[in-house]
Amino acid sequence: MIGVSRRLALGGGLAALAGACAAREPDGLASLAARRGVRFGAAAEPQTLENDRAFAALVAAECAGLTPENHLKWNVLRPRPRAFDFGPADRIMAFAERNRLAVHGHALLWHEANPAWLSHELRPVAAEEILREHIDGVVGRYAGRIASWDVVNEAVERNDRRPDGLRRSRWLETLGPDYIAMAFEAAHQADPAAVLLLSDYGLEYDDERWMVEKRGTMLTLLAGLRRRGVPIHGLGIQGHLLGDRRPAFGRDFRAFLGEVARLGLEIHITELDVNDQNTPGDVRQRDETVAAIYRAFLDCVLDEPAVKAVTTWGLTDRYTSKTDMFPRADGQPVRPLPFDRALARKPAWQAMAQAFNR
Ligand code: G3I
Repeated sequence: MIGVSRRLALGGGLAALAGACAAREPDGLASLAARRGVRFGAAAEPQTLENDRAFAALVAAECAGLTPENHLKWNVLRPRPRAFDFGPADRIMAFAERNRLAVHGHALLWHEANPAWLSHELRPVAAEEILREHIDGVVGRYAGRIASWDVVNEAVERNDRRPDGLRRSRWLETLGPDYIAMAFEAAHQADPAAVLLLSDYGLEYDDERWMVEKRGTMLTLLAGLRRRGVPIHGLGIQGHLLGDRRPAFGRDFRAFLGEVARLGLEIHITELDVNDQNTPGDVRQRDETVAAIYRAFLDCVLDEPAVKAVTTWGLTDRYTSKTDMFPRADGQPVRPLPFDRALARKPAWQAMAQAFNR
């Protein structure tokens, strides 16, 4: 029997849920996306949701899903080896539940954002126990309340030059490639209803050779996991797009999405934004460029019925990690998201709405 959170992660249930929530804007992105069976959401942090009421209202109006941007990562949850700090994650869960937002959990295993103690303790004898204890503790705590999870994030790195294309993370070096199956099995055991994803970046552009090659590596990995009966339900495509590149999301990307779907997997776009660090022009021109990239990307991915969720990495330019990570040389604030710093809809919002409405 399919569980409640699994059903909510699917389009129809979410459409009903979106309709049931008074705060949801009828012409907002969540409502438009729900009409075609897609959950629209955004990543956010508990402190901005709590301290900025206008922003919190915007999230409730425009989103059906919420991804904690940083507070389910090891460096926040596991400051010390034998303790969990669920405080900030619980706060963001409370916001999501008050506003009927389906939560996407990010991320159970990642090679970044780990506490220093982890690399000391990750030895062959202890590693499997640490992995299982963490996943059981975190997924188990939120079982039935977190709809989907990035179980392993960014597991593929072809530059690490392994024949299987896997990243030489501490998890891989300690446990071997089976760490991926172990993680999915542990997550499934802790919450059999949760939709479990393997997520990665660098799968989007048709005119970037390493990305095209990475798609092949990813398909082989996914097919192998499916063949072995590993409880994996979907691929997360991050969707960090570039504002100074041609939007080359064409036939090959569309075919890749079809191949993933044929493996019986859902596809979630988990971290969509458009990096305008090097986008030329004035604000109006930059906004148009960014909007056209959103439109081209969404037109391509929404053509594939296996795409069940689209999440932007932030919702407004007021709160985006791009500000610190990819500042512009001209000192202008970055504008990677559908809402501006005044929380007004931008051309990117219109482009997304048109893509959902198409
Ligand atoms: O919360 C502390 C704050 O107390 C302190 O004063 C400040 C000083 O640097 O740091 C704050 O923490 C930062 C945190 O973001 C919140 O702003 C961390 O240093 C910083 O490392 C962290 O960066 C995050 C990064 O992942 C690493 O975890 C970004 O916000 C987040 O957007 C980014 O997200 C990643 C996804 O998880 C995976 N895919 C790529 C994506 C974008 O890079």
